[in-house]
Amino acid sequence: MQKRHTPEEQAIEIMRGNDRGGYTVPTPGLYPYQWNWDSVFAALGFAVLDRGRAWQEIETLFQGQWADGMVPHIVFRKNDPSYFPGPDIWKSNTDPMSSGHSQPPVAASVILTLAKTGGKDDMARARRLFPKLIASHRWWHDYRDPDRTGLVGIIHPWESGRDNCPDWDIGMDRIVVPDDLGPYHRRDTDHVDADERPTVQQYDRFLTIVKFGRECGWNHRKIAAEGPFFMADPGVQFTLMRADRDLLELGRLLGEMFDEGEVEGWIELSQQGALSMWNGDIEAFVARDLRAGEFSTALTNASMLAFYAGAGTGDQLGLLAGHGREILDICEYGFPSWDPRHEAFESRRYWRGPVWSVMNYMIAIGLEEHGYAGMAERLRNDCRQLPELSGFYEYFDPLSGEGLGGPDFTWTAAIYLALGCGLDPALAKV
Ligand code: DGY
Repeated sequence: MQKRHTPEEQAIEIMRGNDRGGYTVPTPGLYPYQWNWDSVFAALGFAVLDRGRAWQEIETLFQGQWADGMVPHIVFRKNDPSYFPGPDIWKSNTDPMSSGHSQPPVAASVILTLAKTGGKDDMARARRLFPKLIASHRWWHDYRDPDRTGLVGIIHPWESGRDNCPDWDIGMDRIVVPDDLGPYHRRDTDHVDADERPTVQQYDRFLTIVKFGRECGWNHRKIAAEGPFFMADPGVQFTLMRADRDLLELGRLLGEMFDEGEVEGWIELSQQGALSMWNGDIEAFVARDLRAGEFSTALTNASMLAFYAGAGTGDQLGLLAGHGREILDICEYGFPSWDPRHEAFESRRYWRGPVWSVMNYMIAIGLEEHGYAGMAERLRNDCRQLPELSGFYEYFDPLSGEGLGGPDFTWTAAIYLALGCGLDPALAKV
């Protein structure tokens, strides 16, 4: 009789199986390239197995960094017809080929965790990446906050990593799809049930933004000023705020000579900027259209990253914790990507309801640090229980726990492994 594999063994097999030699794909078929924040979280999982491989994952990601400092959301090393839109649609003219915008900047935070839990080699590899991290943070503050408001914008819902969250409906509704967008063949629904993916209307708008970027040669000044979409995202804002603080700590830990005042300036300004994402009607930080000023209308798992960022006032965080608790009471598994009490909630559709392990990982760190240990523990447990119950899927139904989206998913496995051995900056082992 064949021995059944433990969940840990399965997670390790997934990480190894998705390894393409120096970088991992999130899942074969659906996502056949290197994705930005997927890779950074993959590094956390690899750190449990093989420190050298963990660093290599981040190093290969930064091979895709643009001259202006941007780390693109996809690094394409070859053309794979199983994915759309591939490099020929983006036409970013970079080597290696890449997409034209970024993704939540989580690298400095994970690198700090690796540096603090490692030895001499970890410090040396962190040191080599440090100037690249500075350049990428400078890019965010410069290109995505051109008026120095302390609030960074995103130019595409894909930049948030939370592609079709109802947060973007306000900005997406304003996009006019041009007649010459042309026919295209989506590949994601060849791999995954269409009910679990963005709609056709959303895809048309996603591609309209890519067309604008491509046609202006990915001129990010122009895209931020005139592009079809520019919204503030609590996910990007809060991961950047956390990453700025972690960058400062990392620079000091490494004994690097750098302009500490510049980083301190970003931290201070972002604290101010974040306050303008507070929607008093629902008592949460939410996405906001940066052109029209309009707020999104419900609390998300990205709103809950305020703790991780250390954003907002004590009163605001108290209110947020209360609402978070109410939402968790409704769900079998937390934290949902959209408030289940809101009419737009869909428990199975991508970022319109389902639970994502990487978001839970970061939310739990913030909650733990702010004294909400019970809620933090609940979210960490859910990240371990869901794959044990349903397999290592991309995301999960918060009501039933069903695994959805891509199977054998790298970051779900990585977070499972990292939490299993306490690789978590809010817990004592780091
Ligand atoms: C996709 O293709 O769905 C990706 O999330 C875009 O990054």
